[in-house]
Order: sequence, then C-alpha cells, then structure tokens
Amino acid sequence: MQQILDLTINFVKNTLADAEAGHDWFHIERVYKTAKHINSTEQADELIVALAALLHDIADSKFNGGDEEIGPQKAGDFLASIGLEPKIIEEVKLIIKNLSFKASFGEISYFSKELDVVQDADRLDAIGAIGIARAFTYGGFKNRVLYNPEIKPNLQMNKEQYKNTTSPTINHFYEKLLLLKDLMKTETGKAMAEQRHQFMVTYLEQFYSEWEGKK
Ligand code: ADP
Ligand code: NI
Repeated sequence: MQQILDLTINFVKNTLADAEAGHDWFHIERVYKTAKHINSTEQADELIVALAALLHDIADSKFNGGDEEIGPQKAGDFLASIGLEPKIIEEVKLIIKNLSFKASFGEISYFSKELDVVQDADRLDAIGAIGIARAFTYGGFKNRVLYNPEIKPNLQMNKEQYKNTTSPTINHFYEKLLLLKDLMKTETGKAMAEQRHQFMVTYLEQFYSEWEGKK
C-alpha cells in the first residue's frame, strides 16, 4: 500500500507544481492528513480514503473551463497506469466526482463512508483560519474586492450563479463557508468544524468593527 501512496503523492506533487495557492500540494497534504485523522475513528477503507484525498483536486473544473469530468478521468487514468484494480479505481473516481460543494447542488446518487470522510476533510480546509486565507487568496486570484457593504450575499444561488459569481470575498462566507458546519457527515468532522466555524464568526465581527474604524 505504501508504494501505491508514494507513487500517487509523487504524481500529485508534479501535477500541481504550478497550482494556485488555495489548491496546491499543501491543500492536498492537509486534506490527506485530516482525512486520515477522521478515518482513525470512522474506519472506512484506508486505501480508498487516501487515494481519493490525494487525487481529489487533480484537475479542478474551475480552472478547466468548467469541465467536471476531467478530474475523475485524470485520476482514473493515473491509477490504471500504476496497475490498480478497476473496482478501487471506480470508487475513487465516484468520490472525486461527488466531492465538491458544487456537486451538492445536483442530484446526489452516490453515498459511501469513504466519501463522507474525504468530503469532511476537504470542507474543513475551507473553514477556520486556513479557510479564511484560502478564500482571500481565491478572491485575489479572481480580482474580487474584499468587501462591499452595498452588495448583499445571495443566499439562494443555483449552481450556475455559484460558479459565475463575482461578489466580494466576504460574501463567500455567507454563501458557502458558514454553511459547511451543518453539512459535515462524521462525528470527528463535526467537532472540528464547530471550532473552526466559531473562529470565522469571531473573525467577521472583528472585520466589521475594523471596517467602521473601531477597535
Ligand atoms: P468545491 O470544490 O467544494 O466546490 P471550491 O473549489 O469552489 O470548492 O473552493 C475551493 C476553495 O476556494 C475554498 O477554500 C473556497 O472557499 C474558495 N472559493 C471558492 N469560491 C470562492 C469565492 N467565490 N470567493 C472566495 N473563495 C472561494
Ligand atoms: Ni480540495
């Protein structure tokens, strides 16, 4: 198993060498570690959890003209190239396909404990101190303003609007980040999300206070 993981780590590091800071190898490494931590109590299939965590952002649709099939395809091709059995490859591809927040706008037809573990780990990296850093990095990458009091968050976005939004980065907290806590699936994930959520709430209070020239 370790040899498969080493080959996969190597492949992911090389593929993400030029990735933007929010989706780089270190994001993958954090998700991988968090998934292993969560799985120490969940006890889903260790190899599938590890491979899905490592390969989940190998080709993000946001950076590939919106094509959501490229990621799972690329991951599957790699796993086939190192001789992994088709059954495991199919599982990993399904997890990657169903992982993203965007996927949850659609009809969800695949459920597994492995998906729950990796999805919780990925969502945890979108909240808390690191989540805040990633949101502003992404906002900067897209040339968004930090905050504009006149542009209210859109809490009823459909998938297309979510994909094409140009709203200020602070709005992303209300449109996604503050919603993640209640979408967590595993007990370990829920407890970790609670703490990180609270940190974001405190952060927002401080942000508005500074915005008004107070504190
Ligand atoms: P998912 O794959 O679950 O849909 P994304 O790839 O959209 O998640 O998000 C990855 C990272 O980029 C997260 O940290 C997320 O908060 C950030 N991000 C995505 N969309 C925005 C946005 N509109 N503004 C700020 N950050 C964003
Ligand atoms: Ni991710």
